[in-house]
Amino acid sequence: MLAKISQSMALAALALAAARMMAAPGVIQPGEAWLDNRGQRIQAHGGGITVWKGTYYWFGEDRTPANDPEKRYVACYLSRDLVRWKFRGQVLVLSDPEHLGPQWVLERPKVYANARTGKFVMYAHLDDARYKFARVMIAVSDRIDGIYNFVKSFRPLDEESRDIGQFVDDDGAAYLIFESRPTKGFFIAKLTDNLMNVEKTCFIPAPLEGGALVHYGNLYYVVGSHMTGWRPNPNVYATAPALAGPWTEFRNLAPPEVNNYESQSTMLLKVTGSRKTIVIFMGDIWHPKELWDSRYLWMPLEIGDSSMHLPPPQPWSLNMNTGEWSIRPEIK
Ligand code: GAL
Repeated sequence: MLAKISQSMALAALALAAARMMAAPGVIQPGEAWLDNRGQRIQAHGGGITVWKGTYYWFGEDRTPANDPEKRYVACYLSRDLVRWKFRGQVLVLSDPEHLGPQWVLERPKVYANARTGKFVMYAHLDDARYKFARVMIAVSDRIDGIYNFVKSFRPLDEESRDIGQFVDDDGAAYLIFESRPTKGFFIAKLTDNLMNVEKTCFIPAPLEGGALVHYGNLYYVVGSHMTGWRPNPNVYATAPALAGPWTEFRNLAPPEVNNYESQSTMLLKVTGSRKTIVIFMGDIWHPKELWDSRYLWMPLEIGDSSMHLPPPQPWSLNMNTGEWSIRPEIK
């Protein structure tokens, strides 16, 4: 009798595991290990998404332990459903381009597409070990998932620049968000036509990093984290009818005691379906001692009427056609 019960329990467990495996491809599981088409962990930390010809390209810091410690790497993945990601390669493999010395830093890469010229421009935060260099670097490629070649580094608007964020408006205009410590705030700066420089659009006097922006309804929503390095903190948001403002006060994205579910903002991704438009909060759950093991927290935001809320992370799936999403509690 006992043997029979344990046999049927084992069968039930197997069936559950099989159901999970079948369900898994369509489900985003915040905080879990996220594997690419090779079965390897996605290395796209501090990342950004570029939409090109109906396909999503995810770029980010590649912290693979086997990487050459003298170099810095950006990996690229592509997907049509935001769940299954195909590794396209380490599109940037860079040796210290500005004599920054040991432990030099390349973080938060973002790629912009120039529809006019068919060229692709990568921005990233470039720094020395003490974060004093405070510049962006630019690398270019002829293909979105081709090899990117370093062009130059500079201080946007001649300001110190550390964390960067990326925003492309509904009209196609591209913006760089960058945190600037001496000015105690962050800039939203429009990229020039060739995407190789920026011009001032707006300065928000709030010392926040991990800046991300979305245009939803008639409002712009900006998100950022406080400056606590790799340690998470309650992320905050503000809204404005135009990028130039006026911006509201910053408010918490989630109850402060949940500490943004241990994550830090990197991007807000809008997906417009036939029935709904959703905005996905893309955050990093940093594991500073083993950065390669850092996780991703992606959740649809509750957004509208000048308010934005990050719900508790749970497995969820998205219908890319309709824009409808649902919680998938059975996965956990
Ligand atoms: C964070 C920043 C990360 C990284 C880290 C280093 O505040 O968002 O991108 O620079 O500090 O301490």
